[in-house]
Amino acid sequence: MDLQLTGRTALVTGASRGIGLAVVQALVAEGANVIGSARTVSPELADSGAHAITADLATPDGPGELVHATVAAHGDIDVLVNCAGGGDATDLRAFFDYDDALWHKTFDLNFYSALRTCRAAIPGLIRRHGLIVNISSVGARLPHNGPVPYNTAKAALTAFSKALAEEYGDQGVRVATVAPGPTRTPVWTAPDGIGAALAAAQGISHDDLLAGLAAASGIRSGQLVEPEQVASLVAYLASPLAASMTGQEYLVDGGLIKTI
Ligand SMILES: NC(=O)c1ccc[n+]([C@@H]2O[C@H](COP(=O)([O-])OP(=O)(O)OC[C@H]3O[C@@H](n4cnc5c(N)ncnc54)[C@H](OP(=O)(O)O)[C@@H]3O)[C@@H](O)[C@H]2O)c1
Repeated sequence: MDLQLTGRTALVTGASRGIGLAVVQALVAEGANVIGSARTVSPELADSGAHAITADLATPDGPGELVHATVAAHGDIDVLVNCAGGGDATDLRAFFDYDDALWHKTFDLNFYSALRTCRAAIPGLIRRHGLIVNISSVGARLPHNGPVPYNTAKAALTAFSKALAEEYGDQGVRVATVAPGPTRTPVWTAPDGIGAALAAAQGISHDDLLAGLAAASGIRSGQLVEPEQVASLVAYLASPLAASMTGQEYLVDGGLIKTI
């Protein structure tokens, strides 16, 4: 299937590893002109065929500066994928152990980064009749089941996406939310990630935690989500073939969410 992305300009945040890197690779494979951004340029991003621009998106000015640098070098953006997120506020604590600074830090990375990138990119996206994909999480639908600041920030992102789709739909801009379940990225696999921390807290090996994570999370497919599975959905949403897909949230969760 030709997704008709050849020559389209895509800006992907969170592009140095994990889901964002897989999105970069999928869009490059479809012939898009991809700009991948993160605070660091990983070897994988450097080798991906994308252009890399570094930015700290958890700062008030970082998102706007990234969009302006992208447009200055590559022209208006057709596809914006807001994937930067996670951070060290994904650890599990009790409510009273999360202070204001941590709530702010979590929202800066998981909500305001996307909001500010959208604010800077929307004028160009209107000109291009473009698309925004915000990467949320199943945690937005399960706020009790995980780190509350992170899940709350993702729920805000999902709601924001819906509102944005409604406000800009008649100007030709589509907005979609993609919500992955637990996905095999460094968040889970790295020795300093949440997976290793959870394993230590449970007194089991990191390997055992990863082997049991799908079942423990209620993933009916029995397997963690792979970053490439999220990326192929994002690539399809970016296509003109998906012109009627806007305003909705798409789960890639192996059946984790049980409600309709
Ligand atoms: N993995 C999962 O199980 C899962 C499930 C549901 C939703 N998600 C969401 O999917 C997205 C990607 O997750 P992932 O698992 O691929 O995470 P990851 O492997 O930790 O990658 C996060 C990406 O965001 C970038 N980033 C972090 N802080 C940043 C900052 N301040 N400014 C700019 N870029 C920053 C990182 O690059 P640098 O460190 O180089 O800046 C990296 O490229 C996140 O929004 C996450 O919340 C993940």
